[in-house]
Amino acid sequence: MPTPAQLKKLKAAAKTAAGRAYAPYSKFQVGAAVLTSSGKIFAGCNVENASYGLCNCAERTAIFTAVAARERKLECVVVYTPTQEATAPCGACRQVIFEFGPKARVLSFCASSDRLDTTITALLPAAFGPANLA
Ligand code: THU
Repeated sequence: MPTPAQLKKLKAAAKTAAGRAYAPYSKFQVGAAVLTSSGKIFAGCNVENASYGLCNCAERTAIFTAVAARERKLECVVVYTPTQEATAPCGACRQVIFEFGPKARVLSFCASSDRLDTTITALLPAAFGPANLA
């Protein structure tokens, strides 16, 4: 669980990251920030491509950045979109969140007061994960 101070930093990082989105095709900017078990924060934005199927979501950019820094345990994922409704992570991102944070809290916020405050367990019930391969 993030502390109020960590939550403030996560939200700020996600919002800043949304401003860095490379989304010339969808024009849908997304920023994400993740809190790892060591208390570090990593942010990411969506990165699109002229070959549309290669687009990478903000959540996965943030998570892959954390993993590249040897941080593999996610406590919390925060998503920001400059929209009127909060955006929940897509299915692919839910699977990736589960891989590194099977108990992660997931929070989405946006330009209005709309919020999503949930867990990856609720977003991805009966998930397939590392334990299934053991
Ligand atoms: N997108 C994200 O970055 N995260 C989500 O959870 C939903 C979708 C991006 C992918 C694409 O660049 C754009 O939003 C439209 O789908």
